Amino acid sequence: MGNELVQIGSAPSLGCVTPELLSAADFAPAPATAGEGRTFYVETFGCQMNVHDSEKVAGALMARGYRAVDTHQEADIILYNTCSIREKAAHKVYSRLGAFRKAGWSKNKIIGVLGCLAQQEGERFFERAPEVSLVCGSASYTQLPELLEQVESGKRRVTGLDLDTEDCFETELTRRDNRFRAYLTIIEGCDQRCAFCVVPMTRGPERSRAGAKIIEECRRLVDAGYTEIQILGQIVNAWRDPAAAGWSFAELLARAAEVAGVRRVRFTTSHPRYFTPDIVQAIDSHPALCDQIHLPVQAGSTPLLARMLRGYTREEYLEKIHYVRKARRPISLSTDIIAGFCGETEDDFEQTISLLKEVEYDQVFAFTFSPRPNTVALGYADTVAEEEKSRRLAFLQEVQRQIQLRRNQAQVGQTFEVLVEGYQPRLAQAVGRTTSNKVLNFAGELSDVGCYRRLRVISAGANSLVGERVDSKSQ
Ligand code: SAH
Ligand code: F3S
Repeated sequence: MGNELVQIGSAPSLGCVTPELLSAADFAPAPATAGEGRTFYVETFGCQMNVHDSEKVAGALMARGYRAVDTHQEADIILYNTCSIREKAAHKVYSRLGAFRKAGWSKNKIIGVLGCLAQQEGERFFERAPEVSLVCGSASYTQLPELLEQVESGKRRVTGLDLDTEDCFETELTRRDNRFRAYLTIIEGCDQRCAFCVVPMTRGPERSRAGAKIIEECRRLVDAGYTEIQILGQIVNAWRDPAAAGWSFAELLARAAEVAGVRRVRFTTSHPRYFTPDIVQAIDSHPALCDQIHLPVQAGSTPLLARMLRGYTREEYLEKIHYVRKARRPISLSTDIIAGFCGETEDDFEQTISLLKEVEYDQVFAFTFSPRPNTVALGYADTVAEEEKSRRLAFLQEVQRQIQLRRNQAQVGQTFEVLVEGYQPRLAQAVGRTTSNKVLNFAGELSDVGCYRRLRVISAGANSLVGERVDSKSQ
């Protein structure tokens, strides 16, 4: 998109957004004084849950009087919210810290690492990156202001590494980046322990937030002007109401979609094992629930799925896809695939390709397998050579590109509503998303950002569509 894209959170003028909405865009109370005059900068790596965690961190610090700045140069405190899902993600953090050290920028600054890599490495981080004085995992963010105070009063190495806490559901102070779409975590951690994945170690055991609290927060968000709510969890559909009411996940979705004033509710990531027909029924009967499901399959071969410890066979997965395809509303499907997992044969890989052709996803996030610390797969032989992993990945991406191109071209002539998320002044082009999560570009204005627009699709590529306005008023 280029540097010029004006993202929702940073749009200087916000078009149809009311002043009430702007003043209510976060719930941070009046600043207290502990951090008065001190500045911080947070850089986020990784998934939406990390983006949302950074919003919580920013809110907690701002409530203490710290001020957010846009660059590390201006900041007294630099926080990296890290990801460790693949080696590359972890490497990025270390190289950022290395560049920082080399340039001598760390003098008189406090550097902290947060998130999954922080949790994974713990105290070892201090050895590898001596300029770091604070290491805090994702379940311990509410302690961050106190931990920072310890560093500010001269303590050199401070950690917050508790894993099994419910503090992560504290959203009172959250400072949301986006004024129209709000993230809302309903379940933390993961008990699944897929053979390749570090998440159970970095985010701890599964903890569900009470259903009534979630719905209460949905109401507060809508009252504050957010129109799209994105419900998050590592396995979002493993959510079970811990309260006596005992709602199922599908009931929770239905209740969220029934909150007066909400226009869109999305949820991610669903696990095939917990994917039940009532979720599809909820989408069918609630127009505010988005017609989009992200259902990671990882591989198309049953023996490989068993080695990955995914808990389903190819056939069981396809049965879930069958529910989705039988829905009254067309529902768009996306998935994650790992290419070149330990022991993946040509035949296993061909089965993944055949699954892609059978399901015809609207989007696929594919990665080569990356061995991770403390995972079951570390005990397997990593049999597929790196070049072969990359070859399989490239082949798979090309197959999927053609599927997407064909599916997107079939949308030409249809009309969709988009929530406009950004604007590129140089091209006078606005970009929005359909409920099915398709990206639509159109000739627009900055004032379109945050509004819902109706667009007719006039052309399509593999990754996005181009549309033209069929309405003239904001809705
Ligand atoms: N909770 C999600 C996945 C979270 S991790 C689920 O239920 O599947 C996001 C994606 O990263 C995974 O779906 C997987 O495709 C990929 N991934 C995880 N560990 C990986 C590894 N070691 N190497 C390559 N890709 C990995
Ligand atoms: Fe990872 Fe599997 Fe949980 S991919 S997040 S261990 S469902």
